[in-house]
Amino acid sequence: MIRVCPSILNVERAILSETIASIESSADLLHLDVMDNVFVPNQTFTFAQSEKIIKETSLPVDAHLMISDPDDQAFKYAQAGAASVTFHLEASANPLKTIEAIKEHGARVGIALKPDTGFEKLAPLLEFIDMALIMTVEPGFGGQSFMQTMMGKVEEARKEIDALNFKEIWLQVDGGISLETILIARAAGADTFVAGNAVFKAVNPITAIDLLRRTAATY
Ligand code: DX5
Ligand code: ZN
Repeated sequence: MIRVCPSILNVERAILSETIASIESSADLLHLDVMDNVFVPNQTFTFAQSEKIIKETSLPVDAHLMISDPDDQAFKYAQAGAASVTFHLEASANPLKTIEAIKEHGARVGIALKPDTGFEKLAPLLEFIDMALIMTVEPGFGGQSFMQTMMGKVEEARKEIDALNFKEIWLQVDGGISLETILIARAAGADTFVAGNAVFKAVNPITAIDLLRRTAATY
């Protein structure tokens, strides 16, 4: 199963609602990048704005929290109705507690790793989560180049997930995904793909999503 999750980070705010509506028929999840200008040097959606997006769209929302206090905040996104809530391991003092708080509100739980964080930090938590997110850019901005050097980490995660027979865990990559790099990430074992510019800078975002999905499926 391959999932494409368009990231609305760089979508012009004035046309956000109609842009989201326009991809509802073809996206698998809507990737919502939440940044607080502390964990990363950029700010995106406030909680109120996130909540509005979650309530308005018919798509399941994949909230990616790039915030410094996920242990206090993450559950709120689940409570607001996000289908999946991902927080960064680097920002969490008590990941197990945060995992539980998200689950309690009925959302899937993801844990994200920045490029400098090794997979071994996440491995012991795999059995408690629903998705591992391996960042393929330094979090903070859309439109950056895909870090192929992260493929070793994706392979490691895939190996471990398969070895443990955790069939329900999704393996997501985020950053610089294009028609070329999606194949590379797919070959390394990813099954869930975030794409910002590759979708919204395309002439036809729906075609772009379908093409990304079909390209990944050729592997
Ligand atoms: C980066 C964000 C990504 C980003 C993806 O911090 O987490 O979701 O918006 O955008 P592209 O696909 O353009 O790299
Ligand atoms: Zn993201």
